[in-house]
Amino acid sequence: MAKPSFQRLGTSIDVPNVQALAASIANPAHVPPRYVRPEAKADPVASDGDSELPVIDFSRLLHRRFSREESAKLHHACADWGFFQLINHGVPDQAMEKMKADIVEFFKLPLEEKKASAQLPNSLEGYGQVFVVSDDQELDWADMMYLITRPLQSRNIDLWPAQPLTFRDSLSCYSMELKSVAGTLLEVMAKNLGVAPEEFSTIFQDQPQGVRINYYPPCPRADEVLGLSPHTDGSGLTLLLQVNDVEGLQIRKGGNWFPVKPLPGALVANIGDIIEILSNGVYKSVEHRAIINTKEERLSIATFHGPREDSVIGPFAEILKRCKPKYMSMSYEEFTKSFFSSKLEGRRLMESLKLYSL
Ligand code: OGA
Ligand code: NI
Repeated sequence: MAKPSFQRLGTSIDVPNVQALAASIANPAHVPPRYVRPEAKADPVASDGDSELPVIDFSRLLHRRFSREESAKLHHACADWGFFQLINHGVPDQAMEKMKADIVEFFKLPLEEKKASAQLPNSLEGYGQVFVVSDDQELDWADMMYLITRPLQSRNIDLWPAQPLTFRDSLSCYSMELKSVAGTLLEVMAKNLGVAPEEFSTIFQDQPQGVRINYYPPCPRADEVLGLSPHTDGSGLTLLLQVNDVEGLQIRKGGNWFPVKPLPGALVANIGDIIEILSNGVYKSVEHRAIINTKEERLSIATFHGPREDSVIGPFAEILKRCKPKYMSMSYEEFTKSFFSSKLEGRRLMESLKLYSL
């Protein structure tokens, strides 16, 4: 069985990168030059209370009496913000807590033990860093572990940490729960876009899914570094679980960075590039970044839901009956190739895929 394309299409990531991990920098007060990011403090941040990220109540989406109102709210959140908090999503507390505990445990292991799951050359999967395409590129103050969780036959179990002992089980269970939440959200989005649900379910058949577990160590000079460079997600739909309540995620809103406050028990959902293209730009894949805390570490788990490997990505025909195409169509394989070979550079890739500038 062929592995998903994004696994084959690695960049020049190499195992030696594992030595340059942020967590292994002995004296974080002296930030190594490759980690210094002047834009971290230069860019304006919106102050508290400027506006609120929409909150979608998943249980209302499922409820006959409230679903119409809640799905209209979801539509506006996807169109105006590209981001929302999802509450009452029905993922059992136990599944979330087990996952969180195992992630915390994994990142505490000595580097040598974590390296058992290290990225292999030319692969993005495993423990290490992502989007390092050259030796002189600036680096993010974070370590991560990327694992493919779906379809099941694409799992590369050897890379899934064997320590802590419950890790694999916790991840399987978490993956299954999130897949079902994502499936429901995609169905409602299809209806809201006036597209037959089968069109979405064909593209997202078998519900391909990958998780990126992010570990952001504290840094006394936090305003000189960035945890995660501004980017959009190359997925269809991302569901992010913030493992502890340390703030760090910021989304681009107008000319400002807008801080997302962790809401206990909620998932942060965002539209990825694929749904922006499928919806012909009605739903927005919004730029976001992660900043670093001076004292506390921060952990998060981003679960990406993408299209099947052999799909063609372009605006839905149903939508094109009403307006002109804004994006070119291309194979998903071509898309992932461009996505992973470009560094994280905000919306640069998405702008280049537009048929004309708006
Ligand atoms: C990501 C991401 C944000 C965060 O992994 O794609 O945007 O807060 N993470 O860790
Ligand atoms: Ni992201």
